[in-house]
Amino acid sequence: MKEVLVLGANGQLGQTIKDFSDIELVRFHFFSRKDLDITDSNSLNEVFKDSGFDYCVNCAAYTNVEGAETHTEAAFSINAEGAKNIAEVCKTYQVKLIHISTDYVFDGNKEKPYATTDATNPINQYGKSKLQGELYIKAQLKAYYIIRTSWLYSLHGKNFLKTIIDKVESGVSLNITTEENGTPTSCVDLAAFILHIIKTDSVPYGVYNFSARESTTWYGFAKEIVKNLSPEKSGLISPTKSFKTLAKRPKFSVLNLDKTEEFYKELNTWQESVRLMVSSYKS
Ligand SMILES: NC(=O)c1ccc[n+]([C@@H]2O[C@H](COP(=O)([O-])OP(=O)(O)OC[C@H]3O[C@@H](n4cnc5c(N)ncnc54)[C@H](OP(=O)(O)O)[C@@H]3O)[C@@H](O)[C@H]2O)c1
Repeated sequence: MKEVLVLGANGQLGQTIKDFSDIELVRFHFFSRKDLDITDSNSLNEVFKDSGFDYCVNCAAYTNVEGAETHTEAAFSINAEGAKNIAEVCKTYQVKLIHISTDYVFDGNKEKPYATTDATNPINQYGKSKLQGELYIKAQLKAYYIIRTSWLYSLHGKNFLKTIIDKVESGVSLNITTEENGTPTSCVDLAAFILHIIKTDSVPYGVYNFSARESTTWYGFAKEIVKNLSPEKSGLISPTKSFKTLAKRPKFSVLNLDKTEEFYKELNTWQESVRLMVSSYKS
């Protein structure tokens, strides 16, 4: 039996992993922030000691990109120091770490999808704090997977897809930016990749990109959600160029999936994954 600890279990990715956790020969242990705060290394040590975990999946993070500009200390405490604390206990107790990172480690000045080997250069505090977390993990561990993903959505928690569904169902008109290019990623798809790593034990350690195939803008993403939800309401979504935010966002953060595809063949297009998510919302 493989023993797997999931941290940040009440977030959207953590909850999605829980939805799919009934798997033969794998036993999951879910810890929310209330159960275990990753900034508290003593508590981490208590949980890891004598636990016999094989894997730790870190879904815990400070994910408010706008908030990180003003609550920068909190973002670094969780995304950088928290990741460092986890790497330390994983090293002490020989637990393999699966850590989730972000496309926002890149500056967005490239015009072709970012490979895992491309230079990082985050342009906002969230991205900087996540990159620092990556660096701490790499400095401590050999047995790690850092999975950079983008534009996560699910039916849990707060995310773009749920916001669009709520607004459109209430008949609210929305102006959505066409200024950023990236790839919406279903938490269901990412959870399946994480489970693949755990079940097969055959994916080499290192940094991976994970998203759906192909790319779009937030406007394109919103249109696709509404097309699947209630196409007669697609007039509620309009494109806009100006969208004022505190945090700078990379204009282009599409991820190159070549390395991931060497070990994982199940990637959907983003449109197919949106279709599946909206259909599960409707059913
Ligand atoms: N969301 C995206 O679009 C996106 C894109 C790229 C990468 N990612 C990365 O993907 C991962 C999963 O993101 P997500 O969307 O599932 O995030 P999420 O829904 O915001 O969940 C994050 C979870 O972490 C918990 N948490 C925060 N501080 C903690 C602490 N000190 N100790 C333990 N738990 C703590 C939060 O608890 P509370 O709610 O109680 O604070 C929350 O349940 C993160 O690493 C994120 O950086 C996300």
